[in-house]
Amino acid sequence: MSEQYPHYENVFKAADTRYDSLPYRRTGRSGLHLPAVSLGLWQKFGTDHSYDTQRDIILHAFDLGISHIDNANRYGPPHRAAEQTLGRVLRRDLAPYRHELILSSKAGGVFGPNPNLRGGGRKALLTSLDLSLRDLGTDYVDIFYHHRPDATTPLEETAGALATAVRSGKALYVGISNYAPDRAEAIARLLRAEGVPLLIHQPRYSLYDRGIDRDGLADLAIEEGFGLIVYSPLAQGLLTDKYLETIPDGARARNSDFLKPEQIDDTYRHRTARLDKLARDRGQSLAQLALQWVLRNPAVTSALMGASSTEQLDHNLQALRGPEFTDDDLAVIEEFGVHGTGLPA
Ligand SMILES: NC(=O)c1ccc[n+]([C@@H]2O[C@H](COP(=O)([O-])OP(=O)(O)OC[C@H]3O[C@@H](n4cnc5c(N)ncnc54)[C@H](OP(=O)(O)O)[C@@H]3O)[C@@H](O)[C@H]2O)c1
Repeated sequence: MSEQYPHYENVFKAADTRYDSLPYRRTGRSGLHLPAVSLGLWQKFGTDHSYDTQRDIILHAFDLGISHIDNANRYGPPHRAAEQTLGRVLRRDLAPYRHELILSSKAGGVFGPNPNLRGGGRKALLTSLDLSLRDLGTDYVDIFYHHRPDATTPLEETAGALATAVRSGKALYVGISNYAPDRAEAIARLLRAEGVPLLIHQPRYSLYDRGIDRDGLADLAIEEGFGLIVYSPLAQGLLTDKYLETIPDGARARNSDFLKPEQIDDTYRHRTARLDKLARDRGQSLAQLALQWVLRNPAVTSALMGASSTEQLDHNLQALRGPEFTDDDLAVIEEFGVHGTGLPA
């Protein structure tokens, strides 16, 4: 039994080495540092997968220095389940480490039958935050996001609700996700006026989705001083070697609504095989190359990956030890890492 926390039995003891190797990066111009690689609970943390495996992944991530766990009110299935899974791990194992953890939640999509339980309105955002805190069993989240833009709600109302979340002490920082640069710039201005600066933006970014380089979001983040935590850096697993020959049992392309077998076509396989060869020539795997590539962008604070096993976590963190990219490597990446590869038509 822990002396410091006598009310916890069988308390989890985190590895003493957990901050020895994973670099932390400052989030924009804020005072918050995030691990270069963070863990998201979007897929495989609902009730349809083993709690023991989920718990192992979360605890192993923490042991590796991944203190930032990303979540949202809708992650499951069913909706809310991933926050309930994390709440269970927090209660049983990680509560003594709450002060080290950087937990996030998001609201924006539909989370109930009532017309006010969706979008970026004040009622939706603040109600969702309360439900997330209930499910997580915590008093606050570190980062609270508006999950996606909502053209039907005035941006002033969304910014005001995010600012209220911080003023009430239920969130330390606020972020946005999936906002185009013009809307991101507008809400950053509104939040600044509220005295609650925009901490971070969460867009999709990978070798196969160059959106933030093409639309100017990466440049805007640096100018405005907010961080970027980029999601799906492995393109949901497409930027690994797992789909080169077949679609393995248990892989996301077999069991998720968000990655369909049709996305794995001949064009995808041709480009991915060439990138896989480049990675092996460099002495790493494609997953490692893909993570290393997003992290070389100076606007990126953290690569937000998913994992369905502790082995994937161990493997992927080796990305931080990859050799520098040479000009020849980057030429191959430009030729075969084509924007839009593997994305739904
Ligand atoms: N803000 C938003 O709108 C939004 C949207 C999407 C995601 N996100 C956030 O971003 C997080 C990450 O998204 P993501 O899961 O799509 O990221 P990802 O890192 O691109 O994909 C992760 C998936 O790839 C597979 N994988 C990982 N490492 C592997 C390896 N070494 N070898 C083979 N396969 C490997 C695993 O899937 P399988 O083993 O199951 O095949 C894993 O779940 C989410 O959890 C969520 O927090 C946010």
